Amino acid sequence: MISLIKSSFYKEYKTKSSLIKFIQAAKQLSFGEKCQTFERAFSSWQGRSECVLLNSGSSANLAIIQALLNLNRIKKGDLVGFSAVTWSTNVMPLIQLGLQPVPIDISLDTLNISSKNLEKMLKKYPLRMVFLTNLLGFCDDIDQIHRICKKANVILIEDNCESLGSEYKGKKLGNFGLAATFSFYVGHHMSTIEGGAVITDDDELATMIRIVRAHGWDRNLDFAKQEQIRKKFHINSSFYSRYTFYDLGYNLRPTEITGFLGLIQIKYLPEIIEKRQKNFKYFANMLYNHPNYLPIRWDHMDIVSNFAIPVVCKTTEIKDELVKRCYGIVEIRPIVGGNMTSQPFFKKYVPNVYETCKNANFVHAKGFYFGNNPDLTKKELQILKSLFIS
Ligand SMILES: Cc1ncc(COP(=O)(O)O)c(C=O)c1O
Repeated sequence: MISLIKSSFYKEYKTKSSLIKFIQAAKQLSFGEKCQTFERAFSSWQGRSECVLLNSGSSANLAIIQALLNLNRIKKGDLVGFSAVTWSTNVMPLIQLGLQPVPIDISLDTLNISSKNLEKMLKKYPLRMVFLTNLLGFCDDIDQIHRICKKANVILIEDNCESLGSEYKGKKLGNFGLAATFSFYVGHHMSTIEGGAVITDDDELATMIRIVRAHGWDRNLDFAKQEQIRKKFHINSSFYSRYTFYDLGYNLRPTEITGFLGLIQIKYLPEIIEKRQKNFKYFANMLYNHPNYLPIRWDHMDIVSNFAIPVVCKTTEIKDELVKRCYGIVEIRPIVGGNMTSQPFFKKYVPNVYETCKNANFVHAKGFYFGNNPDLTKKELQILKSLFIS
């Protein structure tokens, strides 16, 4: 059986051996120096000034929305656009925190939101923010999306949990919006078992996310920022300052294990991305020119870095036949979470659905993905080819 996830880490044995030694020798395993060192390494890898490490990509999504609310950059009741095909915890924080999620349909040729569709939506709805998902390593014309959002004064946040390492027009995905979220879950590009991050160049936002990440207090801010916030709130006593809660927060902290694993795995990231890109190209050239499947455009991108390869069948019959054929041989899944607006939680909590997303419905009904693992063997590549390209 070719599973979606083949191992817990890239270079599994070496990573686990180092982890055992680290745990035995460590004086501290709660949030500390390893996490902070990883934050610097990851922000530098991504090319942005701030990185806040969290315990999952879902937590990163929750933290950024809460931080934007705390900073009054968005307010309860605001309309927020999101990609109709995404993951549940991209949309859930919008609902949980009192925003109105407005689905934006994807384009079938890129599986992502296009600027054309966004422009159409902005004419219909006064969106305050767009929480864009870069689905499975792909993007549409995200530079134009950025331009439109800037002009319309709409905050653009990228959920880049599925596209770490992808590049468009010489720029990494995750660097087009005000901030971007990442996941280091075991099945994703780089594993810290569970883990996530927010990346931004906005110092004020990063500071608020650090407050949101840990109870609403200032413990993990640098000294200058602590002084600033304590002065603002007239907290003069060191006895109380450690237990002053400045704004709404959670406990979304990672442990030192997350930071340690991140520091090991980030060194392999270029190798992981290269191998996955090679696998992707091998299949894309066959799948996206095949008469049974929809063509997915990717020639506008410099690098497609994904952990799974999507296939959208032209008919449900073709998909159902492949689902049967894969049973017991290859693990396949629906494309991410499918059309989010058709999920039970969405129907329960969002009475006004605003838009019917026909392309998202199409992908939901006729799409699936299989894993793109850097450790896929020649034999496994051959099995996958014989299943899907016949
Ligand atoms: C687009 C997207 N956002 C967020 C997440 C959540 O990440 P995590 O599993 O690290 O919580 C995922 C997870 O697969 C995802 O695909």
